[in-house]
Amino acid sequence: MRAVVYDRYGPPDVLRLEDVERPVPGPDEVLIRVRATTVNRLDCATRDANRRSGHAIALISRLVFGIRRPRRRILGSELAGVVEAVGTSVREFTVGDEVFGATGMGFGAHAEFVCMRENARIAHKPDSMSFEEAAAVCDGAFNALSCLRPVHLGKGRTILIYGASGSIGTAGVQLARYFGADVTAVCSTKNLELVKSLGADAVIDYTQEDFTENGQTYDVIFDAVGKLSFRRCRSSLKPGGSYLATDGFRNLLLALRPWSAGGKKVRFPSSMATKKDILFVKALIEGGTYHPVIDRRYPLEQVVDATKYVETEQKTGNVVVTLS
Ligand SMILES: NC(=O)c1ccc[n+]([C@@H]2O[C@H](COP(=O)([O-])OP(=O)(O)OC[C@H]3O[C@@H](n4cnc5c(N)ncnc54)[C@H](OP(=O)(O)O)[C@@H]3O)[C@@H](O)[C@H]2O)c1
Repeated sequence: MRAVVYDRYGPPDVLRLEDVERPVPGPDEVLIRVRATTVNRLDCATRDANRRSGHAIALISRLVFGIRRPRRRILGSELAGVVEAVGTSVREFTVGDEVFGATGMGFGAHAEFVCMRENARIAHKPDSMSFEEAAAVCDGAFNALSCLRPVHLGKGRTILIYGASGSIGTAGVQLARYFGADVTAVCSTKNLELVKSLGADAVIDYTQEDFTENGQTYDVIFDAVGKLSFRRCRSSLKPGGSYLATDGFRNLLLALRPWSAGGKKVRFPSSMATKKDILFVKALIEGGTYHPVIDRRYPLEQVVDATKYVETEQKTGNVVVTLS
């Protein structure tokens, strides 16, 4: 089968198309013919051994994914496709089923075929969605859910989402709105209409206004794009408020410290998404409350261009890769 592989950490050009062995499903696995996948920030950070995130994260990244070279040669952490074969004990899926899901840090989706365990984060694709849309559901939604769940959003709670136009941000706006919170979304001018259409109650254009200086306070500030700091926005949190981080070793340390700054906490996502989460998001899609935002689409052969675009850190929502 064709797959995009890499044998050393480095820039997008280390990626190349190669013919590799097709995986064989185990007894509890399904073999999926991938119709669409994405390039996301997890792919990019892993391919580069998290070099830009500082020495500590870069070291952890190599310990997890391979010290000298990547142990898994194929990236791609989310997908949609068609079940091609099933293992002997699989009950939920049959050959021909249309599915979507996330392999997460197991990767492997930048290929014509990938195997996933039946009880992993895989579900039947909502009928209303194309493969391209379904491939772009999991990364943003799972990351946003693992950040938002611990802060128990609900009616009367206020949240500011910074970086509301990215993959995690667009998911965060829709999920926070679903949980009943009053949502203020921060993005640049070109994305204001989009984030309003996703359900934001108020929008702030960060090129025109610095929200930390307008005197407003929030129960939760969600830095969905890793561009803020707790220090910078602490005074915009209500007493007892939470700053949700998606990135940064410093934030991880702040989240681990046993005391809080004036009752205000830094939180770092600690839970992994499960099968329940994909079924939860699927139900939201079917109920019309969630849809993934797609920026650009590239064929698999142009994965390097797709990757370079993702690394501009300017994509709106998700970048999809299609397989013919
Ligand atoms: N995606 C993952 O798998 C993953 C996993 C774990 C952690 N993370 C981390 O989570 C963060 C977000 O990931 P993502 O994939 O959602 O990001 P993303 O989609 O690449 O975010 C792109 C968006 O960020 C906005 N942006 C860029 N610079 C900004 C700034 N200075 N202030 C405010 N917004 C800015 C841009 O919108 P505007 O044009 O409107 O500014 C753009 O729409 C990153 O720090 C990433 O490392 C990602």
